[in-house]
This record gives sequence, structure tokens and C-alpha cells, in this order.
Amino acid sequence: MRLLAPWFSSLAILPLAQASLPLLYGTEVWSSPYSNNKPSVKVETLFQFPKNGSWVDNLVLRSDGNLLLTRLDVPEVWSVNTTSGNATLAYSFPNVTSCFGISEIADDVFAVVVGNFSTKTYKPDAGSFSVQKLDFNRTSKRRSNRTSALPAASRIAALPEAQALNGMTTFSKDEDLVLIADSPKGVVWKVNIKTGDYAVALNDTTMQPAKGQALPLGINGLKSIEDYVYYSSTTRMEFCRVKVDEDVKPIGDYEVIASGFLPDNMDVTEDGIAYIATDPQNSVVRITPSGQISLVAGGQLSTEMPGPTSARLSEDRKSLYVGTSGGQVAPVLGTFMEPGKVVKITLE
Ligand SMILES: *[C@@H]1O[C@H](CO)[C@@H](O)[C@H](O)[C@H]1NC(C)=O
Ligand SMILES: *[C@@H]1O[C@H](CO)[C@@H](O)[C@H](O)[C@H]1NC(C)=O
Ligand SMILES: *[C@@H]1O[C@H](CO)[C@@H](O)[C@H](O)[C@H]1NC(C)=O
Ligand SMILES: *[C@@H]1O[C@H](CO)[C@@H](O)[C@H](O)[C@H]1NC(C)=O
Ligand SMILES: *[C@@H]1O[C@H](CO)[C@@H](O)[C@H](O)[C@H]1NC(C)=O
Ligand SMILES: *[C@@H]1O[C@H](CO)[C@@H](O)[C@H](O)[C@H]1NC(C)=O
Ligand SMILES: *[C@@H]1O[C@H](CO)[C@@H](O)[C@H](O)[C@H]1NC(C)=O
Ligand SMILES: *[C@@H]1O[C@H](CO)[C@@H](O)[C@H](O)[C@H]1NC(C)=O
Repeated sequence: MRLLAPWFSSLAILPLAQASLPLLYGTEVWSSPYSNNKPSVKVETLFQFPKNGSWVDNLVLRSDGNLLLTRLDVPEVWSVNTTSGNATLAYSFPNVTSCFGISEIADDVFAVVVGNFSTKTYKPDAGSFSVQKLDFNRTSKRRSNRTSALPAASRIAALPEAQALNGMTTFSKDEDLVLIADSPKGVVWKVNIKTGDYAVALNDTTMQPAKGQALPLGINGLKSIEDYVYYSSTTRMEFCRVKVDEDVKPIGDYEVIASGFLPDNMDVTEDGIAYIATDPQNSVVRITPSGQISLVAGGQLSTEMPGPTSARLSEDRKSLYVGTSGGQVAPVLGTFMEPGKVVKITLE
């Protein structure tokens, strides 16, 4: 049996982390009772790695319909066919241990956050983080005659001042900006993908790690939609947003949309509906713009999707892809673990 990870063991003593989602949200806070405790969605495993310890950190969809996933336990990006479930290694980064956020920055060109991080101690090496480019549109000549050609890789920028970079979102393809969460620092960096220039863009207490937690994990996932930057703040147990101008300067309040659960990475639709993976709570929840929470699939005691880290909607919004760590942060019921996988949830 594996012990709870140190940074969640302190959370686990909260009744909250033990409560199932229906209990959690069935409080008087909501005018109508929790009404979705038997979600009628179809959940299937699209692809699963063979070994325990494999950890899917993030997902993104390519225009050809394939998924790209990043791994935290190895510095790899994998491509998964969403029809057949066939998965192939797309790229392995040298000189680092882990991949984090991934985001499309031009047609079939992706930015990937990489750095040194231990999935055993959860310690990042501050100063080891950078943003790399994986260009699937300009595949390397060496493999260009193969069907699954290697993407061309190059460094966009190293961020030696970053403590631990994590989720990433493309802010504006026209202005060549990506935004990256720095979880222990509790800030958002903006990086120009053409020049490599970078600076702290957003810095607020809602992004900082909660006090008294074993691991400083504040802002985690983020997604830029229209004029807003949406973000999850894990140990604060908050899902938030802030309105920004074209330079990513905040021009409104930092708003807490929903709280009381453990959010990891998420996707948000253009009308502000969020699908959030809850990692140690083994579920995906849906959050409306007004902050109403409902369970989409999984559950605290469910082994359907142990340790969901990320969620990504298909273009038509009918499918939701979820990546998992197999429950490494907090095994289901304290004991159940499995290799990381990609789950497909059919929403309608
Ligand atoms: C995915 O696999 C299916 C079935 O093997 C194949 O027809 C399709 O071309 C593949 N898709 C991509 C994007 O490679
Ligand atoms: C999976 O993809 C690889 C590489 O493209 C290919 O060699 C293999 O035949 C595919 N497997 C299946 C089951 O489609
Ligand atoms: C690996 O990273 C270190 C720290 O950034 C750097 O000094 C070194 O040159 C890198 N090695 C290679 C082979 O890229
Ligand atoms: C992709 O490649 C095509 C053909 O080489 C080129 O015309 C196009 O501009 C490229 N797209 C991007 C985003 O680089
Ligand atoms: C990552 O850690 C390895 C092993 O300690 C080290 O050789 C490498 O330089 C580090 N990479 C970076 C980018 O700091
Ligand atoms: C692919 O390219 C390699 C290296 O240039 C070459 O050795 C190989 O014969 C090529 N394969 C095909 C099927 O063209
Ligand atoms: C974030 O803001 C706080 C309070 O203004 C400041 O002390 C801190 O240095 C800022 N952090 C960064 C990384 O800019
Ligand atoms: C993964 O770990 C669990 C719990 O330790 C064990 O029951 C299971 O057999 C392992 N699975 C694999 C594929 O090794």
C-alpha cells in the first residue's frame, strides 16, 4: 500500500477530502438539491499505459483528431488516436524529467512546458523550467518519410526565475503570447513565443498556495477565453477568473467562481462552462459561470478514473477526454492504483 502523498496528506484530514462529491455539494449553499449524482454519461478507456507510475499530466487535441498528452513521470509527449486508441511516442525531451502544460500556438505547432520534477517527492528543481516548441507541421527530415513523423523541437525560452511551471494556455495567437502558471510562486508568467521575452503578468493571493500545506501548490491549470483568464488554485480549492487587457494586465477583480474541491487542469468553453479534473477526488466536475457544480463522472470512491489530472473537450463538445495519473497522489480508498490512462467521456 502506498502512503498518501505528503502534500495531500494534510488535506486528507479535512472532512472535505473524505466526503463524496454528492455529500460535498448537497449543502444548503445550493437552492436546488444536488441533482446529478447518477451521471448518464458513457465512460470508456481510450488508452492505458502498461505500467504503474505512468502519469498523464495534460492533454490537447490536434486538428487531425489525435490527442497529444504530456507525461510527468518521463519527459515524453505521446500521440493518441481518438478513434482506435492507438498511442505512439511523439517526442522525448532531453535533459529534463517531466512535461507539464501543452498548448497549440499555430496550426499543428505546440508549446510544451518542461522541467525537472520528482513524482516521488513532488519536489521541482527551481531554475530547470523552460518552454519548448514541438512543430508537427515541419517534421524533422530524418523521419519525414514515416507516417508518424517526429515533430521538430526547439526551445522557446528558459525561465530560470520560475519555481515550478505547470499549466499553460495560449493567450493570443496574433500577439504570440502564452500564459504559464507557476504553482509555488502563485503567479502567471506571459511568454512571447517569437522573441522568448517573459514577465510576470498576474499575481494575486488567489493564485498562491494555501498556508499550512505540505506542498506549495497554488495556481495549477489555466485557460484563456475571450477577455478572461480562468485558473484553478489547487490547495486553496478554488476555481477563479480575472478579466485582462491585451497585455494581460488585470482590468477587473480576481473572482472566485467556485470553491471547496481540489481542482487540477481543466477546459472551459466560450460561454464559460468549465470541466475540471479533481485529481485526488477521482472525478470530473462541470461548473457553470454562476458557480454551480455538478459531477460529470467518477467519484471519490470510484475506480473509474483514479487521479484525473486534465480534461479536454472535443471541438463539437460531445466528448470529453480525461488524462489520469492512476491515483498516485491519493490511491482510491487508500490502496487502489493503476497505470495512467486516457478516458473518453461521451457527454450526449
Ligand atoms: C486513427 O485510426 C483510424 C483507425 O485505425 C484511422 O482510420 C485514422 O486515420 C487514424 N487517425 C489519425 C488522425 O491518424
Ligand atoms: C499504431 O500505430 C503504429 C505507428 O503508426 C502502427 O505501426 C501500428 O500498426 C498501429 N497499431 C494499430 C493497432 O493500429
Ligand atoms: C541541461 O540543463 C542544464 C541546466 O539548464 C544546462 O546547463 C546544460 O547545458 C543542459 N545540457 C544539455 C545537454 O542541454
Ligand atoms: C505548415 O506547413 C505548410 C507547408 O509547408 C505551410 O504552408 C504553412 O504555413 C505551415 N503552417 C504553419 C503554422 O507553420
Ligand atoms: C535536470 O536534472 C538532471 C539530473 O540532475 C541534470 O543533469 C539536468 O541538468 C537538469 N536539467 C535542467 C534543465 O536543469
Ligand atoms: C526513410 O528515410 C530514411 C533516411 O533518409 C531512409 O533510409 C529510408 O529508406 C526511407 N524509407 C522510405 C520508406 O522511404
Ligand atoms: C507578487 O506580489 C506580491 C505582493 O505585491 C509581491 O510581494 C511579490 O514579489 C510578487 N511576486 C512576483 C513574482 O512578482
Ligand atoms: C499497480 O499497483 C496496484 C496497487 O499497488 C496493483 O494492485 C496493480 O497490480 C499494479 N498494476 C500494474 C499494471 O502493475
